[in-house]
Amino acid sequence: MAEQSFQTLGEFIIDKQDDFLYSSGELSRLLSAIRLASKVVNREVNKAGIAEIIGQAGNQNIQGEDQQKLDVLANEIFIEALSQREVVCGIASEENDDFIEIKTGNNAHLSKYVVLMDPLDGSSNIDVNVSVGTIFSIYRRVSEPGQPVELRDFLQKGVNQVAAGYVVYGSSTMIVYTTGNGVNGFTLDPSIGTYYLSHPNMTFSETGKIYSINEGNYIKFPQGVKDYLKYCQEEKDDRPYIARYIGSLVSDFHRNMIKGGVYIYPSTSQSPNGKLRLLYECNPMAFLAEQAGGKCSDGFQRVLEIEPTELHQRVPFFCGSSKMVEKAEEFMRNADNS
Ligand code: AHG
Ligand code: MN
Ligand code: MN
Repeated sequence: MAEQSFQTLGEFIIDKQDDFLYSSGELSRLLSAIRLASKVVNREVNKAGIAEIIGQAGNQNIQGEDQQKLDVLANEIFIEALSQREVVCGIASEENDDFIEIKTGNNAHLSKYVVLMDPLDGSSNIDVNVSVGTIFSIYRRVSEPGQPVELRDFLQKGVNQVAAGYVVYGSSTMIVYTTGNGVNGFTLDPSIGTYYLSHPNMTFSETGKIYSINEGNYIKFPQGVKDYLKYCQEEKDDRPYIARYIGSLVSDFHRNMIKGGVYIYPSTSQSPNGKLRLLYECNPMAFLAEQAGGKCSDGFQRVLEIEPTELHQRVPFFCGSSKMVEKAEEFMRNADNS
């Protein structure tokens, strides 16, 4: 009989605490706050259909996209859970114009961590009952401790991440995260509200059979992506591949990590930097992917090495099984992408 794991996320966080450099328990408390917020958001997501909270909140996020009620709610839930526990000195969210400075009880800005997040990813899927997610990314501040947090604390390269993860509110709810020692996944038992370690040491296979891209934009793709798609669809060796695209990065990434595959959101003729946000979506997913043995690139260079210049910066994104990302990069290099 297979060995069964009854380790809870709470126990796992405490067990692994000493693996972190500079461990003081603060990161453990921060992860616990995220765990709590995810359960509250999970409750809201699951009652979306009956609680009349579906639909537009009547305003737009700063990038002019429709903001739905659950985005607003998830944003508030995470900000509240994080700011009330003195576990972060600042938060930047896809849903907020600017970063938020968190003052601890005595206004001393004592925490050394900042969190960047996409509180609800895949929001267009909410009202059609398709999986959505939350993405989070954690850094140590670089500015003077004890002082108000600064923009440069958030504009750090992805390689500086201390931890990153996502929650997928799917057919079951899971939290998947890394602190730089591999990737582990925990599944929520909703009857008792506890996450259990269900997917220890998650890894991307070197190659896979799934490609995930919004092919409706084909005409606007760079030539390298068009060429790679033709390669995916060619009848040769283990191809054609299988096309799967949910439209929630979290869910597409999660499936590809389990089954093997590549996710691409390239630049388009209208959006030269693609759609996905470097700080809230791409860097955390890139950290997870690399920790799981996969790769992430903007088509030409490693995503985690990109120097951010603004909070809501977007970047083309190629992520997943290493050999597949490398193949796509090869097509990008060899094509006339102009
Ligand atoms: P968000 O809901 O946070 O705005 O993110 C949506 C993102 C991502 O999750 C998804 O893969 C992508 O946008 C889908 O975009 P298209 O509809 O353009 O394919
Ligand atoms: Mn998103
Ligand atoms: Mn979002």
